[in-house]
Amino acid sequence: MKGVILAGGLGTRLHPLTKITNKHLLPIYDRPMIHYPIMTLVEAGIRDILIVTGGNHAGEFLRLLGNGREFGLDDIAYTYQEGERGIADALALARHFADGGKVVVILGDNIIEKDIRAPVAAFDRQPSGARLLLKKVPDPERFGVAEIDGRRIVSIFEKPKKPKSDYAVTGIYMYDAAVFDIVATLVPSHRNELEITDVNNAYLKRGDLQFDLLDGWWTDAGTFESLFRANQLVRDKATGGQPDRAS
Ligand code: G1P
Repeated sequence: MKGVILAGGLGTRLHPLTKITNKHLLPIYDRPMIHYPIMTLVEAGIRDILIVTGGNHAGEFLRLLGNGREFGLDDIAYTYQEGERGIADALALARHFADGGKVVVILGDNIIEKDIRAPVAAFDRQPSGARLLLKKVPDPERFGVAEIDGRRIVSIFEKPKKPKSDYAVTGIYMYDAAVFDIVATLVPSHRNELEITDVNNAYLKRGDLQFDLLDGWWTDAGTFESLFRANQLVRDKATGGQPDRAS
């Protein structure tokens, strides 16, 4: 299976930190943010990776990552999103790369504690459709929120004022090749973006949407608070919560 990392956008919620660089190049403890989604994919056994970036600092990704040798990869593919028309618009650029196969998509600011080997293997066995990873959170109104009934997703709403559950739709999505035809049918939302939640709802409508609950902690890093929290979580994981005595 191939992997796609979406790392575009202007990161306006992090101004002025993102005025002269891309959000995904900001530090999370001892690594640039983009390293974490790459490691998530590599640890799940994915070796073909496309990075979709955009904005004014796209060249820096190539300088930082090159062919991905430090992750044990032979090379990394890159593409460029013109304008900021949303996550689903960025995903559309992966059509050629996906080449009719299934893809694991991860948002470049999503960082997890454990690995996604089991859900990726489950998706590999899934004959068609999409698979989401959900996580119980204290602040679901910040995310796409899934209402579930047993093993079934009943509804998904993007940043609802009154969430129907505590289950956030994390930024790790697994799709079959139909995703690109679905994206082509989307219309921009009120914030003038093609929403990934609309893609997931299209699969829900087809009755071809599965999910797993994500194991371990999960955070995004797109606001000052979540960026700070991501640093703390990654540091605690790396040091076992103890300050590094050598430094
Ligand atoms: C995006 C998605 C949202 C998802 C979140 C995960 O939100 O639109 O559904 O829950 O990523 O990080 P954004 O952070 O782009 O506002």
